[in-house]
Amino acid sequence: MQGYGITTLNEFIIERQSEFPFAKGELSRLLHHVGIAAKIVNKKVNKAGLVDILGEAGVVNIQGETQKKMDVFADQQFIGALRASGECCGFATEENEETIYFNDEFSKDGKYIFCMDPLDGSSNIDVNVSIGTIFSIYRRISPRGTTPVMEDFLQPGRNQVAAGYIIYGSSTMMMYTTGMGVNGFTLDTSIGEFCLSHINIKTPDDGTLYSINEGNYVHFPLGVKKYIKHCQEMDPDTNRPYSSRYIGSLVADFHRNLLKGGIFLYPETAKAPTGKLRLVYECNPIAYLAEQAGGKASTGVGCVLDIVPESLHMRVPFYVGSRKMVEKVEEFLAANKS
Ligand code: AHG
Ligand code: MN
Ligand code: MN
Repeated sequence: MQGYGITTLNEFIIERQSEFPFAKGELSRLLHHVGIAAKIVNKKVNKAGLVDILGEAGVVNIQGETQKKMDVFADQQFIGALRASGECCGFATEENEETIYFNDEFSKDGKYIFCMDPLDGSSNIDVNVSIGTIFSIYRRISPRGTTPVMEDFLQPGRNQVAAGYIIYGSSTMMMYTTGMGVNGFTLDTSIGEFCLSHINIKTPDDGTLYSINEGNYVHFPLGVKKYIKHCQEMDPDTNRPYSSRYIGSLVADFHRNLLKGGIFLYPETAKAPTGKLRLVYECNPIAYLAEQAGGKASTGVGCVLDIVPESLHMRVPFYVGSRKMVEKVEEFLAANKS
C-alpha cells in the first residue's frame, strides 16, 4: 500500500526479508501471523468491558497467579494463529507449565520456537490501563521434523532471531526487532492494518524517568535503595530529581521509557527473592529490544541476554532502559553489596 503513502507491517516484513541472505520467508510468515493474532486480541481487549471476558477464569497458572479470562483467550489465540503458520514447532508461554508441541507434519517441520507472555499487566484490564503481549522467537537447535527438546527453549536471549511486543493502549502498537534495529507500527483500525509509524527507534542514552514499585522499598537490595535516593536528589546538571512513573504493566512502562528515556527496575524482594519477571518470555525479548534501540538490560550484575535459562519459568532481577541509567544502578549495586 505504498502508493497510499503508508507502509503496512506486511510490506515492511517482506521488504526486510531481502536483507537476510538465504531467507526463505519462514520468519516473515511467522511475523505476519503474529500481526493477525495481535489484531484479534486487540479487538477483544477493546471490547473487554462489553462482554463476559473480564475477570478471573478461575484457574491458577504455573506462577500461582489467578488467570484472568483474557490471559487464557490471548494465549489460545496466539498459539492457534502461530500453529496455523506452520513455522513453529514449539511454544512456551506464561500460562502453560509445560512446553507445547503439535505432532502434525507441518508443525514438526517448523524451524522456530515461540515464547510469549500472552497478556502482560493483565491485572490492569479491568481498570482500562494499557496491557501488552510480549514475544520472542528462536531458531530450533534440534533437527527439523523431530519433536523439539527442552534445549530449544532454554537458549540464551542472544540467540533470539526476533522479539517484540504489542501494546494495547490509547492506540495499539506492535514493536519488533529482527536484530537490525527496532521498528514500530500503529494499528489503524479504520483499515485494520498495522502501519509503520516509528522507524529505527533509538532510545535516549540517559533519561529522567524511573519506574519501580516503591511499595516494596523495604525489601530492596541496598544498592537499589541508594539508587532511588540518588534519583530523588537535587542536581540541576542531570535534571534530578527524576520523575517516578509506574503503571504496573512491564510493556507499558518499558514502552514509555524507550521513547522518552528512563529506567524500569524490578529487583529481588522478600516476596520474589529472585525477582518477579520471567527471563524467557518477559525479560529476554524486552532486553533484546532495549539493546537494539541502543539501551541496556541487566540483572544488576550482568547482561540479561547472556544468561542460559535453567528452566522455562525462571525469574531474574531486571533493570532495563537508557544505558547510562542502567549502568548507574549496576554501580550502586556493586558498591553496596548487602
Ligand atoms: P503479568 O500480568 O504477565 O503476570 O505481568 C505482570 C508483571 C509486569 O507486567 C509488571 O511489570 C509487574 O508484574 C508488576 O508487578 P507489581 O504489581 O509487583 O509491581
Ligand atoms: Mn507479564
Ligand atoms: Mn501475563
